[in-house]
Amino acid sequence: MLVSLRHVARSMALLATTALAGTMGAHAQDPVAPAASSNESSKPADPAARPWVDAKLPAAARAEMLLAAMTLEEKLALVYTWFPPLAKDPAAPTDMISSAGQQPAIPRLGIPALRETDASLGVANQVEQRKGDTATALPSGLALAASFDPKLAYESGAMIGSEARAKRFNVMLAGGINLTRDPWGGRNFEYLGEDPLLAGTMAGESIKGIQSNRIISTIKHFALNAQETGRFVSDAKIGEAAFRESDLLAFELAIERGKPGSVMCAYMSVNGDFACENAFLLNTVLKQDWAYPGYVMSDWGAVHSTVKAARNGLDQQSGGELDTHMFFRGDLKKAVESGELPLARLDDMARRILNAMFSTGVMDAPVVDAPQPIDTAKNAEVAQRAAEAGIVLLKNEKNILPLAKSAKRIVLIGGHADIGVLSGGGSSQVRSTGGIPLEIPLKNGPAASFVRVTWHASSPLAAIRALAPKARVDFVDGSDPDAAAAAARNADLAIVWATQWTTEAEDPETIDLDGNQNAVIAAVAAANPRTAVVLNTGGPVLMPWLKQVPAVLAAWYPGQRGGEAVARVLFGDVNPSGRLPITFPASIDQAPRPSVPGFEQVKASPDRGTDARAIKPFVIDYKEGSDVGYRWYARQGARPAFPFGYGLSYTRFAYANLKVEGGAALTVSFDVTNRGKREGADVPQLYVTPATGARPLRLAGFERVTLKPGETRRITLTAEPRVVADYDTARPGWHVAAGTYRVAIARDAGQPVLTGAAELQERRLAP
Ligand code: BGC
Repeated sequence: MLVSLRHVARSMALLATTALAGTMGAHAQDPVAPAASSNESSKPADPAARPWVDAKLPAAARAEMLLAAMTLEEKLALVYTWFPPLAKDPAAPTDMISSAGQQPAIPRLGIPALRETDASLGVANQVEQRKGDTATALPSGLALAASFDPKLAYESGAMIGSEARAKRFNVMLAGGINLTRDPWGGRNFEYLGEDPLLAGTMAGESIKGIQSNRIISTIKHFALNAQETGRFVSDAKIGEAAFRESDLLAFELAIERGKPGSVMCAYMSVNGDFACENAFLLNTVLKQDWAYPGYVMSDWGAVHSTVKAARNGLDQQSGGELDTHMFFRGDLKKAVESGELPLARLDDMARRILNAMFSTGVMDAPVVDAPQPIDTAKNAEVAQRAAEAGIVLLKNEKNILPLAKSAKRIVLIGGHADIGVLSGGGSSQVRSTGGIPLEIPLKNGPAASFVRVTWHASSPLAAIRALAPKARVDFVDGSDPDAAAAAARNADLAIVWATQWTTEAEDPETIDLDGNQNAVIAAVAAANPRTAVVLNTGGPVLMPWLKQVPAVLAAWYPGQRGGEAVARVLFGDVNPSGRLPITFPASIDQAPRPSVPGFEQVKASPDRGTDARAIKPFVIDYKEGSDVGYRWYARQGARPAFPFGYGLSYTRFAYANLKVEGGAALTVSFDVTNRGKREGADVPQLYVTPATGARPLRLAGFERVTLKPGETRRITLTAEPRVVADYDTARPGWHVAAGTYRVAIARDAGQPVLTGAAELQERRLAP
């Protein structure tokens, strides 16, 4: 059947990879072995013959000169990438590394190969396509977002990019920024939460960090790929203004800030047209309104046509072997030769790719064709700091945390917390430098072919023992609630390590903790009032036991130093400072979609929807429009378990002396004081709404600030105008209506502390 399945293709990929690894011996085992051929870009260039090598010229001018020197075949060679494990064509480059894809080098012109790797949370190596190739595994995207720390986002990106470069990769499939519209989204863990300003800021900085290594980063998946179920067939429905004010705004802000060389379009359709051939998304919004100069690459298996896709803005078919057809190989050439697709459009596609290569530095600083050393110890520190900054203390009744180091007995229960921390599944999976103590293959389902349930070797048990060497610290596996309760009785602290595994390609049916975990927590809390629950989850879960449990930490998927990070928070070596980037509902019916659209089909399928393309197309109505996440809860008057922006600390912060200035822009200043006894970081948040009350508060600014006990800092924030504005489709662009605007300096979306108002002048901004 021509409508081949991503699953089948991925399986073939794995088979092919395994076979390759088996037959190619040392070379296949070595991820950074020198290339067999073709990358001659580092040869000294003759400036007269290659005027584009002049780094003083603007990227666009250099791209133009190089384009003019290219043959039709050379241009065509740029507009698709090969998916190494499946690239059986004799024309495929001979120097491919098993990864996500490769665009061949053109030695005649000094154009280096583009080698792509997934890189959301580190340099990925999902099912060990590259034997023995490990990388630093960062915490999940939600954990990074929870830090509300753009500097950390930059640093994490810079770390990923440096490892990628050392492994000979120069295109990072990173920058995942789809807003988390539903608490159950299978890929929520990879993204940066539900708010466009937070997600846009963090993604922009992370991309900037990656590209500081003179390589390309993508931003993905453009746009509205908010759920995994039916991702090949679903149609996301949303009105234009709502779209511009939410998911598109997140992309817009991140692209402005990070200037990614490439944008990856998504799998599904948006308002009736596949995202990778969607003229509104690619031509109107991205290239026309935002004047984006880089190139649009498809997601792997997301292309459905040749001429339509090319006309409507797709510049490169990526991982084409996973598509039903090689649309941008022979067919594209025929379309150009017959005049069906203007040559000018092919030129534009190639020009955009070259522009990304020049503007990021890929051309001037080509990746060295030999392994480079990596400071894994230093990079693991980045992973640890990110995990620590992202942990959110949700509850701490009677200050049972931090735990005194003099504690005599601690019991740790469940989640395989004796050996490591759980990670999220999918193309972002990193094989961490610390090791993988446990991997469980999947039996079926759309993720089965490329995903295993994977733990990073960062043992919470060992980390707790290291910080409390005099205590007796026992581990109980949590299979039996009674045994767990018995072990917990009389301990100074009982810690239940609760896990929820989520993955790309699938959504969990519910956000309940699975198995008997709720029963274990309830039994342990009943046996010992000094119980803490650590949530090692992809995102929010329901907590029916919340009233009985005095302390709860959201540790997300905390990466390869997660065990150490959580232990340091439990003992107070780190003062928790994370803030929720996604609302935790009190019950699932508070969420805009209490169940997963399309899930019933997956459930009815004998193999849990393994054949993801066989699901019948369906529409997802994003009825909440731009009121994603906390704005939806506010609109419904629903009180979530924990609101967006929420997080406790071991110290207390006070806000005072608010000054609000209006006019052309909205600026606020206020004092933040650490009133407790420990140093700590706080994230005061600025929310804005028109005084008419026409819509819920929106996050318009935030700043993470670290203060010593007693220290006061004056913070000034200017509201992002596109958050203050509405999008006006009648007179396309942003419109700030003249009038009074209410502002709140808040601890979270539900807790305003200082409130004020200011008059704003009318203002219009280009789309
Ligand atoms: C994912 C992308 C990823 C690509 C390459 C796709 O399934 O959606 O995020 O970059 O595969 O691995």
